[in-house]
Amino acid sequence: MSGNTTKAAGKPAANAQVAKLTLPDGKSVDLPIIKGTEAPDVVDVTSLYKNAGVFTYDPGFLSTASCDSSITYIDGDKGILRHRGYSIEELAANCDYLEVCSLLLHGELPTKEEFKKYKHDITYHTMVHEQLQFLYRGFPRRSHPMAILVGAVASLSAFYHDSLDIKDAAQRELAATRMIAKMPTLTAMAYKYSVGQPFVYPQNAMGFAENFLHMMFATPCEAYKPSPAMIRAMNKLMILHADHEQNASTSTVRLASSSGANPFACVGAGISCLWGPAHGGANEEVLLMLQEIGDVKRIPEFIKKAKDKDSGFRLMGFGHRVYKNMDPRAGVLKKSCDEVLEEVGVKNEPLLAIAKELERIALQDDYFVQRKLFPNVDFYSGIIYRAMGIPTIMFTPLFAMARTAGWVAQWKEMIEDPKQKIGRPRQLYTGETARKLVPLDKRK
Ligand code: ACO
Repeated sequence: MSGNTTKAAGKPAANAQVAKLTLPDGKSVDLPIIKGTEAPDVVDVTSLYKNAGVFTYDPGFLSTASCDSSITYIDGDKGILRHRGYSIEELAANCDYLEVCSLLLHGELPTKEEFKKYKHDITYHTMVHEQLQFLYRGFPRRSHPMAILVGAVASLSAFYHDSLDIKDAAQRELAATRMIAKMPTLTAMAYKYSVGQPFVYPQNAMGFAENFLHMMFATPCEAYKPSPAMIRAMNKLMILHADHEQNASTSTVRLASSSGANPFACVGAGISCLWGPAHGGANEEVLLMLQEIGDVKRIPEFIKKAKDKDSGFRLMGFGHRVYKNMDPRAGVLKKSCDEVLEEVGVKNEPLLAIAKELERIALQDDYFVQRKLFPNVDFYSGIIYRAMGIPTIMFTPLFAMARTAGWVAQWKEMIEDPKQKIGRPRQLYTGETARKLVPLDKRK
């Protein structure tokens, strides 16, 4: 490397630092080094194929930055997560979820006046088109709420034609507002449908977290007033899940949107990706695992199974592609667990005792230590949700609801990036080379 590094992707400055790549045929190419404001520098390989006729190979994006972004910063070795420069710990301790949504989308924390307007805009978009209930009614009652959400969210593009033009800044803002505002309504509707209860309409007098709990638990026969502790816990959980830079579901939203597809369809794609057990689906799996363990005495048996590659079993809620230290969100949740359980009146939750002991044992075990496997956000969230009376099947939909803020912020950032191109990865072809076709009647 030599000279200064360049600050933004694109053409290197005249004195930019470069990495030199020499290929077996002796051809050599200079690859600009680009510096962000924090985190490792990146080697810009965009012109590599044009200049050297080779691609880079990185399945799973282990070493590849897919975009520039100024929304979220993670230092996985130090266990740091910041949105727009603010630590997740500070945001979770001090903010309303909608303040964080506004921060992610607009770059700054809102002033009091801005926040009042933003809250009003979100509140007045919480209702969904009445016709949507018929879409819900087409699903079997036993459907997983994530299956319903994938369809319901993508279907918003059939209802809100005035926010589909992604080239229009006002329509982009409206689409972002609609997505964030309607997700709790759609999520609660998926739950109500699964338990055979009537849908509950949003209430404009309630705050965002309170309104969601109301739509989940009120019925026409009985009002539901969540306690301040429940509202605080819900608010904190949503903040902790709001964004996490270029994770699998966010990258899915970005890739889907890169073709110019409308934001509702793209968030539907993100929800599909989130559902998998290696990603957001893990929160449901953690609880099922803790229930299956059932007793602290059985922990060693499960640790042994997690270390045995032939078992196909992994300790759910452990490990992360980026964090090689405690996931800071898990840290906040672990601290909140006792407090929330006490506030919502759950005494001696046996699953919390199992989770804490499992963490203690795993963090002393060579297998987990060497691989730097720590609890992630999903490890403690389910215990809190359970204490709040949220059914296990709703854990991943709640993740999707909160992550919608991050998806739309990242989507908007991408669409507004002048360098934006359709996402089109290349491949290392390993199939047959050219061969002659044998007609069906001559094939043996
Ligand atoms: N239990 C046991 N072993 C594990 C676990 C685990 N939870 N996680 C990783 N490992 C092992 C792997 O077997 C591998 O071992 P090896 O080097 O001997 O082959 C090593 O640790 C590295 O794991 P990879 O799968 O290569 O790591 P990757 O970064 O691709 O995967 C992932 C990260 C998917 C999160 C993984 O740790 C996992 O499956 N965890 C359990 C599921 C989970 O909790 N997902 C939620 C993630 S957070 C989120 O999406 C919100």
